[in-house]
Amino acid sequence: MNMPKIVTADKTATAVDEAVHALSAGDCVAIPTETVYGLAADATNGTAVAKIFELKDRPRFNPLICHVSDLDMAQKYGLLNQTSLALAEKFWPGPLTIVVPVNPTSGVHDLVTAGLVTIGLRCPSGMTCRIIERFGKPLAAPSANKSGRISSTSAQHVADEFKTQDLLIVDGGACEVGIESTIVKAEADRLILLRPGVITAEEMQLATGIAVETASTDMIEAPGMMKSHYAPNAAMQLEVTKCPEGAGLLAFSNGNGKDRDGAARIMNLSESGDLREAAANLYHHLKALDSLEPKLIAVEPIPLGGLGDAINDRLARAAAENDNA
Ligand code: TXA
Ligand code: MG
Repeated sequence: MNMPKIVTADKTATAVDEAVHALSAGDCVAIPTETVYGLAADATNGTAVAKIFELKDRPRFNPLICHVSDLDMAQKYGLLNQTSLALAEKFWPGPLTIVVPVNPTSGVHDLVTAGLVTIGLRCPSGMTCRIIERFGKPLAAPSANKSGRISSTSAQHVADEFKTQDLLIVDGGACEVGIESTIVKAEADRLILLRPGVITAEEMQLATGIAVETASTDMIEAPGMMKSHYAPNAAMQLEVTKCPEGAGLLAFSNGNGKDRDGAARIMNLSESGDLREAAANLYHHLKALDSLEPKLIAVEPIPLGGLGDAINDRLARAAAENDNA
């Protein structure tokens, strides 16, 4: 029977080894951070990141926080200006996530950023920091709970959430902070609070000399809806079984019952119909088709259920967004 496996921090060396081993194999691992437990995967491996959404039953691909072991690693993945550097130096390791421009050549998978041009970076303390250091790459991790439920603050909470999954859980004891990190967006000369947490606006102002603005509710609740969110330039048509002449075709699965003859170019999300592979390929394939500048990107039906819901949600958003453009 599938069930979670808890490894404890008093055997730190073994726990770190086991976690790094699982992460290298492309698996998710539950990690203890000072805020809440995270459900982590290699941030550069799209299929591994897709497993996070699948495990959480998350209906949408909202961006994930990218956890780093130190400032050097942060600077490989994000572009930190003077203000974000001051924040990182003052509050890391710790419960602060800093949203900065993503380094476009960093290799972080675009499922992590949800196709945004920014990335949320955080350096957690303790055991998780050592795991990331050993792994040598950042970990994408949302809170380790099923979608719509509260975050887990102990290894046992995580095990209760994911009862029937083969999930490695690294037990670091109860989380010190217990609520999710403060999220601040650092722009050229502004700081915008996206989510309040234990590190306060006042503390950040003291560290940077910049007054912290509060984000509009839209920005907090729906980062996936922000203007900068990725949507193709081409018009999109969903649920297509007969590809219109000259369209770029975002295919799914085999060609049975479908007419692909009109396609100028076909990119298949997953030949075998694997939703995890499809999720990992989604942004990449959409971008590749869009770069050919077709009038239309036609999308074949993707089945609902599990990761299919998240993929369909994201496609619907992309189609709706460029309708409004
Ligand atoms: O304490 C925490 O932050 C925990 C631990 C595991 O690190 N993580 C956590 O992740 O709370 P999650 O996925 O439950 O919440 C992350 C929030 C989401 O609301 C997401 O939209 C936002 O961070 N976020 C991530 N990257 C962003 C970006 N580039 N721009 C705006 N919001 C971003
Ligand atoms: Mg959460």
